[in-house]
Amino acid sequence: MISVSNVSMRYGAKVLFDEVSTSFTPGKRYGLTGPNGAGKSTFMNLLTGELEPQKGSVVRPRKLGVLSQDQFAYDQYRVLDTVIMGNKRLWAALVERDEIYAKAEMTDADGMKLGELEGVVGEEDGYTAEADAAILLQGLDIPQECHERKMGELQGGQKVRVLLAQALFGHPQALLLDEPTNHLDLDSIHWLKSFLNDYEGVLIVTSHDRHFLNGICTHIADIDYETIITYTGTYDDMVVAKTQIRSQIEGQNAQREKKIAQLNDFIARFSAGTRSSQVQSRRKEVERLQVTELAKSNIQRPFLKFEQKR
Ligand SMILES: Nc1ncnc2c1ncn2[C@@H]1O[C@H](COP(=O)(O)OP(=O)(O)O)[C@@H](O)[C@H]1O
Ligand SMILES: [Mg+2]
Repeated sequence: MISVSNVSMRYGAKVLFDEVSTSFTPGKRYGLTGPNGAGKSTFMNLLTGELEPQKGSVVRPRKLGVLSQDQFAYDQYRVLDTVIMGNKRLWAALVERDEIYAKAEMTDADGMKLGELEGVVGEEDGYTAEADAAILLQGLDIPQECHERKMGELQGGQKVRVLLAQALFGHPQALLLDEPTNHLDLDSIHWLKSFLNDYEGVLIVTSHDRHFLNGICTHIADIDYETIITYTGTYDDMVVAKTQIRSQIEGQNAQREKKIAQLNDFIARFSAGTRSSQVQSRRKEVERLQVTELAKSNIQRPFLKFEQKR
């Protein structure tokens, strides 16, 4: 479970989130949507912990799978090792274990430590780590002959796929993927879809690919109006639900405008006359009814609406 409590975030005059509280549950697959610049990437960084909220707090599980946005960070590492680094606890234990084995002489304390480290490696499936990493790489179309190479020797598109394998590696409790389909071919997108559909933790994903979101999401967390509203269903379901809510607000506004016009008419006719107390009370009512401006929404532009006549 990931919980977000009263989070606010702004850059200069631009408010991205105002007092947002929401949560993300294991077994549900959330698409994070919203217009460009709404704050999807910023929100992802708040969830991963890369960014601290200016106000409020985020509670997240210990083991996170995050798609790294830095393509050069692992250039000096082997491809397989880059994937295994996705499990931080395992990687730290492997590194420390190798350091002890490399010593010319081992103390008793080293021996004790080794026992402890082997325990961690076992718990984290360390003995099958390379084979598990290879399976992920294969699924993402990184051929065997690349697995032993350095990251720096790979092309940009291949690196992104290795970083995606890193995010998926090691059974994370939550997967946070910002635009994972960039640089994937159709086969890899297909593979990723079925991987994510089998995933049992908390999945939160952003994508420009509507079909991809429709193929995996059980929920859509939509960023709009400086807040986040979670809809049940796929991307297309969210658009329909949002359009309905919008029509409802439009209908209510139209009724209010009509009422205001009637009241104003009364005020214009009788304001010079003797019914001043009635005019006064209608003026108050007009103030109360002032139409609240419909908040700007991403489905407001481009917006097509067909009315059914029969
Ligand atoms: N570090 C930053 N400093 C200033 N403004 C930023 C920073 N990061 C993002 N922004 C602004 O915040 C808004 C949201 O950005 P972003 O989260 O990348 O949106 P999205 O991923 O939804 O397109 C944009 O207007 C962007 O220019
Ligand atoms: Mg973004």
